[in-house]
Amino acid sequence: MPLYLESAFQFVCGTLLLSVTFTAAAVNNQIETPFSYVYNMYTKNIAIEKHTIRSVSVSSYWECFRHCAEDCDCVTFQLTGKTCDLLDTDQDGAAGDLVNRPGTLIFSMQQSSSKWKIPLTTVPFLVILGLPPRLFSPFTQGHGSCLNGCCQSNPCLHDGTCVEKCDDVRERYTCACSEHYHGRRCETFYPRVKSCQAYLKLKPGSQSGVYNLNETTQTYCDFESGQAGKAWTLIESFSQEYKAFYKRKPFYYDFPRNENTFSWNDFRVSYQTMVNIRDNSTHWRVTCDFPSGLTFTDYARAALKDTDILTFVNDSCQRYEYISVRGINCSSCRGMLVQWDDQHMHTDSYWSGRNGCFWDPRAGSISNEDNFGFYEIVNPQHKCTESSVSTTQWWLGSEL
Ligand SMILES: *[C@@H]1O[C@H](CO)[C@@H](O)[C@H](O)[C@H]1NC(C)=O
Ligand SMILES: *[C@@H]1O[C@H](CO)[C@@H](O)[C@H](O)[C@H]1NC(C)=O
Ligand SMILES: *[C@@H]1O[C@H](CO)[C@@H](O)[C@H](O)[C@H]1NC(C)=O
Ligand SMILES: *[C@@H]1O[C@H](CO)[C@@H](O)[C@H](O)[C@H]1NC(C)=O
Repeated sequence: MPLYLESAFQFVCGTLLLSVTFTAAAVNNQIETPFSYVYNMYTKNIAIEKHTIRSVSVSSYWECFRHCAEDCDCVTFQLTGKTCDLLDTDQDGAAGDLVNRPGTLIFSMQQSSSKWKIPLTTVPFLVILGLPPRLFSPFTQGHGSCLNGCCQSNPCLHDGTCVEKCDDVRERYTCACSEHYHGRRCETFYPRVKSCQAYLKLKPGSQSGVYNLNETTQTYCDFESGQAGKAWTLIESFSQEYKAFYKRKPFYYDFPRNENTFSWNDFRVSYQTMVNIRDNSTHWRVTCDFPSGLTFTDYARAALKDTDILTFVNDSCQRYEYISVRGINCSSCRGMLVQWDDQHMHTDSYWSGRNGCFWDPRAGSISNEDNFGFYEIVNPQHKCTESSVSTTQWWLGSEL
């Protein structure tokens, strides 16, 4: 941690009571001071980047402190000369965004106790003049036990409900968001949905593209390519370059790849996500090089009731609605399907007919040719394996 070697800690002490109001109820000669902030320490020659809410010009760190105390989103502040940056996180939350910067001081802020009961006689010493009225007014309005004014401006978007908090300066208010909104201030719309199908139901007319299924899981939704399902949810996509990762991973293994950052070349959702999608689907399909356009010369589609790809373990002739490899196709017929503990789901166009399955694409095949997965032996005539950048996609889908 070379970054910390240059840092020096120093104890400085400041307290800002944003608390006392003349109209607060005095009970038993005591007055409640709902909240106060202290800063007590700074780190020298280190700055936090990318977390500035706003910067103001100040003449002292006390002034910077006050700006931070007054801004409900401010968690800590840093000072470089006269520039005061109000930051939305502290050093712990900004581990990747710390840089050496000579002369910068990062102050830590703390919420001191949220409710002080103090003798009425000491009040005059605690009054800090010159604070904006909004910081005083909340205490007269009966917001319950914690009153810090942070909900006054209604920071929660899209009908979220704001609740003031006085325990931790990192969270001076929280937003209870209305359905389908997320984020600290309910700024982001994405429904927690099980599948692309459920998303389309919620937002009819959505375009195909990358969607979030929840805060962390992304996938590609195909709403346009029709066939036996109006909404297809991608569960896996990989290029030949990455085939080794997938070769021995049947779908019943939990093997997420880039679940949070979608990529056609190397992507798979977690097993639990597959289960969620499967429970909302009727069909599965596999496509080759989907990003360059859907083609049916190398393609397969089947009903989950005939084969559940999340539980299938066998090498047998399974029913397809349609299957084609190198243009040799059949509809409502049986073709070979393989998935074992050490083999990704696939078919073998050399063996399908030889093994007694109706679909027999042996013409033009090479010995032991693997199609749609596993890929120990690949044929450049098969669209999924034309070159190192060719991709294979597995999907689950259904009609609305
Ligand atoms: C998103 O979904 C995945 C798979 O179901 C799950 O593992 C993950 O915890 C979920 N994330 C959130 C924030 O709910
Ligand atoms: C998928 O989920 C939606 C609700 O989110 C439901 O209306 C629909 O019937 C489900 N489809 C299937 C095939 O389970
Ligand atoms: C595999 O498939 C064959 C042929 O359909 C079947 O007889 C056998 O029971 C299956 N094995 C398992 C473990 O399901
Ligand atoms: C399906 O096979 C027939 C010949 O049996 C062929 O004419 C047709 O083009 C094939 N379809 C596709 C999409 O490859």
